[in-house]
Amino acid sequence: MSKRQVSVDETAIIERARQVLPAGGFGNVTFDVVLSEGRGGHVWDESGNEYIDFLLGSGPMLVGHCHPDVTQAVQDQVAKGSTFFVNNAHGIDLAEAIVEAVPCAEKVRFVSTGSEATFYAMRVARAHTGRDKIIKFEGGFHGMSDYALMSMAPARPGNFPQATPDTAGIPAKVSDEILIAPFNDAETAVSLIREHKDELAGVIVEPLQRMIPPKAGFLQALRDATREHGVPLIFDEVVTGFRFAYGGAQEFYGVEPDLCALGKVIGGGYPLAAIAGRDKFMAVFDGAVAGPERTVKQIGTLSGNPVAAAAGLATLEVLRQPGAYETIFATGRALMEGLTASLAKHGIEGQVMGVPPMFDVVFKAGELTDYRATMGADMSMNKRFTAELLSRGILKGDNKFYVSLAHTDADVTQALAAFDEALGAIAADN
Ligand SMILES: Cc1ncc(COP(=O)(O)O)c(C=O)c1O
Repeated sequence: MSKRQVSVDETAIIERARQVLPAGGFGNVTFDVVLSEGRGGHVWDESGNEYIDFLLGSGPMLVGHCHPDVTQAVQDQVAKGSTFFVNNAHGIDLAEAIVEAVPCAEKVRFVSTGSEATFYAMRVARAHTGRDKIIKFEGGFHGMSDYALMSMAPARPGNFPQATPDTAGIPAKVSDEILIAPFNDAETAVSLIREHKDELAGVIVEPLQRMIPPKAGFLQALRDATREHGVPLIFDEVVTGFRFAYGGAQEFYGVEPDLCALGKVIGGGYPLAAIAGRDKFMAVFDGAVAGPERTVKQIGTLSGNPVAAAAGLATLEVLRQPGAYETIFATGRALMEGLTASLAKHGIEGQVMGVPPMFDVVFKAGELTDYRATMGADMSMNKRFTAELLSRGILKGDNKFYVSLAHTDADVTQALAAFDEALGAIAADN
C-alpha cells in the first residue's frame, strides 16, 4: 500500500502555520496534514494524497463531503445572502424537522457550536429549577465551557463527586458547581441525585460515553431518578444526534431526556448546533412566558444561519431516504468486524468499542464500562495506529472512526487491508 508523500508546497504551508498558529495548528488534531478537498467518503491533502475519510470533519459529514443535494441547497442560499440575524425560513424548517425527529424536542434554540449547546442546556436547567449544581459523568465530554471541562480526563481521579478541571484557566469556584459520578454505575448516580436533589439543577450525560456503551438500564435509571426528584435530564447528543438513528440516541436506546444538545450532523458541515427539549424547559428562552427572574439570555450572531440551516435540512433529507441508516450500520459493522479480526490475527491486546456509525479500538482487554476501567489503555498505541493508517491513505481522529453513508464496499475492502497492514507493522515492533 502506497506511503504518503508530502510535497514541498504542503511542507511550506505547515511551516507557515507554525509562524501564526499556536502549536502550528487549529488545536484539533495531533498530526500535520493540510486538507484541500473532500468528496463523498474521501479527502485530499495539499500534496494530492487521497485518503478514505473516517474523520468526517469530526462527525458532521455523515452523508459524505459535497453531497450534491447539500451543495445545491448551500449554493442556492449563498447566492441570496449568507446571514441576516433575524429569522429565516430554512432555520424554521430545520427546527420543524428536529421537532419531528427527536423524541424530546418540542422547541429548538439554535447556536453555532456543540459547546454552546451543552453550555446553554445546563443554563436552561439552572434557570428552570432555580438551583445551581450539575451532575456530569467522569470521562464524559461536553465541549469546552468551564462547566463542561470537568473530570473529562483526570490523570488522577479523585473521590466522587469531587470535580477536577481539565484545563488551566477555569475559576476555582466552578469545580464546586459540578458533581462527578461514575458512568454506568446507576446505584451511585441515583444516590447522588437523591442526596443533592435540593441543590441539583440537572444531570448531563453522553448516552454512549466516548466509546463506552450504556449498560442495560443505566440511562433508564437516570431517567427514573431525575423524574422522581424533579431534576432535568440532559442528553448530550452532539455526536449521537441523527447518527445512531434519525431520532438520535434517545430513539436508539429508548430513553427520553428533558433536554438535549445537538450539533455536528444538523449543520451539514456548517457551524450550527441546537438546544432542544420539552416546551416546559425551553420556555425559559421566552421572556414573556418565563418572567424576568427565570429568563435565559441567549443571542448569537450566526444562530440559525440560513446557509448552515439549508445544509442541515438537505442532510436530514438524505438521511430520511429509505435504507440510509441500514447502509451506514452495515458499513460500520464490516469495519468493526474486520478490525477485531486483525487485532486477533496479530495478537494485539485490544477491543473494538462503540456502535457501527462511530467506533474505535481501545488497546486494553477486559470489560470497559467506565472511564477508570479505560485508564490503563495504551493511548500511545492509538496515536501509532492513527499515524500508520494516515501513511496508508486512511484518515481518522486519534480516538474515533466516523462512518459515512458515502463510504463504499471498495472503501471497506481498502480500509480493512490498511488496518491489517498497520496492525502488522505495530505487532512487528512490539
Ligand atoms: C459529546 C460532545 N459534546 C459536545 C461537543 C462540542 O461540540 P463543538 O466541537 O461543536 O463545540 C463535542 C465535540 O466533539 C462532543 O463530542
